[in-house]
Amino acid sequence: MKGCGVVLFALPFQGHINPMLQLANILHERGFSISIIHTRFNSPNTANYPHFRFYPIPDGLSQDYVISSDPNLIFAFIKFLNSNCQTPFRDCLSNLMSTASDPIACLVTDVLWHTTQAVADDLKLPRIVLRTSNVLSFLVLTSMSSLFPLQDSEAENEVPELPEFRFKDFSMFEASDPGGFVEFVDTVVQETKASSGIIYNSCEDLEEEYLTKFSSDFPIPIFLIGPFHRYFPASSSSLLPQDKTCISWLDKQQPKSVIYVSFGSVAGIKETELLEVAWGLANSKQPFLWVVRPGLVQGSKWVELLPNGFLEMVGERGHIVKWAPQQEVLLHPSTGAFWTHCGWNSTLESLCEGVPMICQPSFGDQNIDARFISHVWRVGIHLESKIERGEIEKAIRRLMVEPEGQEMRDRIELLKDKMNLCLKPGGSSYRSLDNLVTYMLSL
Ligand code: UDX
Repeated sequence: MKGCGVVLFALPFQGHINPMLQLANILHERGFSISIIHTRFNSPNTANYPHFRFYPIPDGLSQDYVISSDPNLIFAFIKFLNSNCQTPFRDCLSNLMSTASDPIACLVTDVLWHTTQAVADDLKLPRIVLRTSNVLSFLVLTSMSSLFPLQDSEAENEVPELPEFRFKDFSMFEASDPGGFVEFVDTVVQETKASSGIIYNSCEDLEEEYLTKFSSDFPIPIFLIGPFHRYFPASSSSLLPQDKTCISWLDKQQPKSVIYVSFGSVAGIKETELLEVAWGLANSKQPFLWVVRPGLVQGSKWVELLPNGFLEMVGERGHIVKWAPQQEVLLHPSTGAFWTHCGWNSTLESLCEGVPMICQPSFGDQNIDARFISHVWRVGIHLESKIERGEIEKAIRRLMVEPEGQEMRDRIELLKDKMNLCLKPGGSSYRSLDNLVTYMLSL
């Protein structure tokens, strides 16, 4: 086993960088030497990983580039990166292969870096893909040409065979160029089929029923080895500094009394919605910890759009930060609920700490994750109407005060135990990781 290397290449979004670097740590612990190729944009903090080697490549982006929260622009951005980075990536990988002291077993890239498959084929290096979200959301991509664009008349209909989901949960976002989106998705699917395997930050216990369908659509080895954050926390790959004042504030609150609010690293809201969130939280009378990311409302610096006197009025009952140590917050005994955009990392982090959720998905897999939470596992409330203070107050009360909330808490405790067990010896993710390591060494 000694002296075998892996090269990893993450998509430069927080929600994709975290699981890729966690996976790198998992593989390092299993004895692989680790090389990380990364774009200059959103480059990881290399000082936190003295045990890895880092190789930046040019990406054609300006230093001050800001990722938009508009899904159409995000999609265009991913396409741009794929075509712009292919040659620099090839040069870097080929150089690394000829100079590395350890033989390289394989390349691991985000599934959305589809242009890396051609590079891997050319350099005769096996490529394994990492899907940072769940199995179902990737399966949905294989049916995208028939699902997209969604007809209004079908949006509310249940998906036959998956009655907990409606067609609109699978529609990803309203694409301005539906043909271009379907073509991109088809390429991702084809290049995944051409890869040497797929790793999921998920576990069999959560998604057993989709695995047979996946294996018939994708004749490649599959490894569900998550949840990754249970092996290594995401804090060392955080692109923004995490404000630790959250923890001393949480220390002063009652057990399970706090609602933690964060919409992740990309999703945005309108100024009017920000005000509704603020008043909904204030009127709920529950203590709250709210992550207002700079740019959460496009162009905003931070909390300057909140009404005059709001912060004074809320006083010690509310704590607002730019970015939180999320895993520590969810683990804290004072945290009672998580109002989330349902990014897959946030969903897993909340499940593993047994924190029920209020779901406010924006686009992509978040809609599927929200349905998992509210209708499959029944550990949260899907806030489906427009963001409005009365609805927010009602949802918080249902979750924090009413018996329905206690039932969700009981169910999520069972799921939490299941998730923690799957990583222990004999558990499904534990076995799957063993299989992955054996497989990588056989390539
Ligand atoms: C994006 C997509 O929105 C999501 O749908 C997809 O599943 C992954 O990529 P993102 O918006 O970044 O994800 O959300 P999420 O997947 O939840 O990841 C956010 C990460 O940032 C989590 O690991 C979370 O712990 C961390 N985080 C979030 C912080 O460290 N501090 C915060 O204040 C908020």
